[in-house]
Amino acid sequence: ESKNKLIVGNWKMHGSLAGNALLLNALAAGAAKLNASVLTAVCVPFPYLAQVQTLLQQSCVAWGAQDLSAHLAGAYTGEVAGSMVAEFGARWVIVGHSERRLYHQESNEQVVLKAKRALEAGLTPIICVGETLAEREAGQTEQVLGQQLQAVLTALTVAQAERMVLAYEPVWAIGTGKSATVQEVSSVHLFLRRILAAVDAKLAHVRVLYGGSMKPDNARALLAEPGVDGGLVGGASLQAGDFLAICQAA
Ligand code: G3H
Repeated sequence: ESKNKLIVGNWKMHGSLAGNALLLNALAAGAAKLNASVLTAVCVPFPYLAQVQTLLQQSCVAWGAQDLSAHLAGAYTGEVAGSMVAEFGARWVIVGHSERRLYHQESNEQVVLKAKRALEAGLTPIICVGETLAEREAGQTEQVLGQQLQAVLTALTVAQAERMVLAYEPVWAIGTGKSATVQEVSSVHLFLRRILAAVDAKLAHVRVLYGGSMKPDNARALLAEPGVDGGLVGGASLQAGDFLAICQAA
């Protein structure tokens, strides 16, 4: 079954009010000319959610955040709750990005809690999984990905899991300019789909995105793979022309 492709930009910790305004206005204008079957979104730093809401609300580009708290509310200085993100019209939130797992010691257990909080707030979690270079070279790719995905599938009900999006992001391909090959991506996506299917046939609807150095010149081939339902785009989402070219390739 083929689904509408979903292209999500992850700005990471980049932006300024002035720079964002140029980028968002260009995205809104360019996205109006895209094939209506492509879904697009940008995930921005928290302080820019209000700006994004203002500048994108008349456009077909949706928006979201890059993280949320594992807690509902309370004395958690510096944390941002899913309900707060949702108040700004956000639809998406990235959960368990490798940069959170690596620099903020997020465990599979925390990722699962965050995914639950996102769903409770009415947000769609984009749950990231991926192996490091050392894990790939040690032949542990499927073991690592299997553990990351099983943690999610054990904790969520089928009805909850049906609403998530997965993103396969090999850590060695992120920000390195070295995308995984179409064969590598295809093999991992089939592996993840087998795990989903083993839990419940309804999980065939779950979108699985690829992320890691997706650029205008490699997007078409990656997105043409039957198991690849879209992309999670870092660096190339900071240039309207590049991001729109990737959306066009979808
Ligand atoms: O979330 C996005 C990924 O980390 C990919 O980043 O496109 O800069 O490699 P990148």
